[in-house]
Amino acid sequence: MKIVVIGGTGRIGSTVVKRLAAHGHDAVPASPATGVDTISGEGVAEVMVGADVVVDVSNAPAWEDDAVLAFFTTSTRNLLAAERDAGVGHHVAVSIVGADLLPDSGYLRAKVAQEAEIEAGGVPYTILRATQFLEFLPQIVDAGAEGDSVRLPTGLMQLVAADEVAATVAELATSAPANGRVELGGPEALSADAWARRLFATTGDGREVIADPHARYFGTELHGGELTTGDGARIGAIDFDRWLAGEAEGAAR
Ligand SMILES: NC(=O)c1ccc[n+]([C@@H]2O[C@H](COP(=O)([O-])OP(=O)(O)OC[C@H]3O[C@@H](n4cnc5c(N)ncnc54)[C@H](OP(=O)(O)O)[C@@H]3O)[C@@H](O)[C@H]2O)c1
Repeated sequence: MKIVVIGGTGRIGSTVVKRLAAHGHDAVPASPATGVDTISGEGVAEVMVGADVVVDVSNAPAWEDDAVLAFFTTSTRNLLAAERDAGVGHHVAVSIVGADLLPDSGYLRAKVAQEAEIEAGGVPYTILRATQFLEFLPQIVDAGAEGDSVRLPTGLMQLVAADEVAATVAELATSAPANGRVELGGPEALSADAWARRLFATTGDGREVIADPHARYFGTELHGGELTTGDGARIGAIDFDRWLAGEAEGAAR
C-alpha cells in the first residue's frame, strides 16, 4: 500500500515510516523538510496521488493557544480536502487520552478540534489517543522548573514509550478504519511529581520536587485520572526501567 506519513520526519513519524517500509509498504514521509506543507498546501495534492492511507503525526511548530488551534484545524482541513480529491480510503491520526476532559488547556482544545475535523471530514478514519510519551518526561518536568526546584501536579500520568505508539500507528494504518478512537497508554500510572523523582533518581538531578495539586500541565490543573486510559485501552509493555535501559543501549551504539 502507499501510505503517506504527514510529520514523517518527526519523533513518531520517522519510526512509523521505518516500520511500514519494513513490512513492504510504500511509506512516504511528508513534511516541510520533504517539500510538503499542510498549512500552505505546498506539495499536498502531489504526495496524495495513488495513496491508500494517510497517517497524520504532525505537530504544531508553536504551542500558544491560538497558534496551535489554527495549526491543527487548518492542517487537518487541508489534508482531508486533498484526501477526498485523491480518493484516500483511511485517515489515521494521533491524539491524546483525556483531551476532551481538560478544556483549560489550549493544546488539548486544539487536539479536540483536530478530532472534530476528522470526524466530520468524510474520510474513513482511526484516531489513536495516546498518553504522554516517556521521551517527553524531561520536558514535562522542566515545564515546572522554579530555580532549584520543580513544581509539578499530583494528577496521574501513564507514560508510554514512543516506539510503542509508532508500532500501534503502523498497525492501525494497515487495518480497516475504526471510524472511532483507540486508546493506548503505558503500563504504569504515577503522579507527575513521582515521575520527576523517578527521573531525577536516574539522572542524578538534585533539584527539589514539589508536589502541588494546583500546578498546571499544559495550562490546566489535573484533578485525578484525566490523562489515564479507560476501559478497553491497549496497554504498552515497556515500563520506565525497560525504556531507560533501551535509551542507554541506544546512546551507547
Ligand atoms: N508528546 C506527547 O507526549 C504526545 C502524546 C500523545 C499524542 N501526541 C501527538 O503525537 C503527534 C506527533 O508528535 P511528535 O512528538 O512525534 O512530533 P514531532 O517530533 O514534533 O514532529 C512534528 C512533525 O510535524 C511536521 N510538521 C510541522 N509543521 C508541518 C506542516 N506545516 N506540514 C506538514 N508537517 C509539518 C514536522 O516536520 P519537519 O521535520 O519538516 O519540521 C515533523 O515531522 C502530535 O500530533 C502530538 O499531538 C504527543
